Amino acid sequence: MRLVTDALTFAHPGHPTLLDGVHLDVRVGESVAVVGPSGSGKTTLLALLGGLLRPQSGRVVLDRGGEELPVAEHVSWVLQTVNVLADRSVIDNVLVGAFADGLDRGTAAARARTALAAVGLGGTDERPVRTLSGGEAQRIVIARAAVSDRPVLLADEPTGQLDQDTSAHVMDALLTSAADKITVVVTHDTAVAARCSRVLVLGAGHLATRTR
Ligand SMILES: Nc1ncnc2c1ncn2[C@@H]1O[C@H](COP(=O)(O)OP(=O)(O)OP(=O)(O)O)[C@@H](O)[C@H]1O
Ligand SMILES: [Mg+2]
Repeated sequence: MRLVTDALTFAHPGHPTLLDGVHLDVRVGESVAVVGPSGSGKTTLLALLGGLLRPQSGRVVLDRGGEELPVAEHVSWVLQTVNVLADRSVIDNVLVGAFADGLDRGTAAARARTALAAVGLGGTDERPVRTLSGGEAQRIVIARAAVSDRPVLLADEPTGQLDQDTSAHVMDALLTSAADKITVVVTHDTAVAARCSRVLVLGAGHLATRTR
């Protein structure tokens, strides 16, 4: 499976061109880090890749052996704004995506506990999320993505609220869970980018391979 774009262009309505010919080709098993200055269009690019926005020209194609899959139905998200149900328990928040995808309760719960332990939240299952710190809530969303069977993982600043050591552990957990997925991670953190298999830089509307 591959996630491919051909010369994507995009402008937010009433704004100048933000992305001006973005080429990307990510295979299963690859993790691509996208870095670049604030406002360069990284979150916008993820929204295009995941089918939340439509490009003005160019296409996003999720290709499985010549068959084109609807990308929006195959993405798990870790968004820049942490989206949790604050009054529900930690485990319910991890399970919400798995249930939506039709995983049975037993399998999903076992996976969720493993994922929570991997992000350092073992034993917090029954706590309401509102009693957790911001960084802990962020890790719940990462555990949720790790439990998902969806083949594409799109993550926007997944470790933005975490210290360096926690960030390293959590990224290892996320990338291990995504070993057979197509992963795109937007990050400002060079240590996070270094854990990915490729680093691309977004700037002036283009995506370029980082030259060291
Ligand atoms: N819905 C919108 N309507 C109009 N302009 C937008 C919209 N969303 C984002 N923008 C603008 O598009 C540009 C790129 O935004 P985007 O969120 O993609 O940047 P980013 O690279 O993710 O930045 P950051 O690193 O700060 O998260 C910014 O100038 C932003 O103000
Ligand atoms: Mg952003």
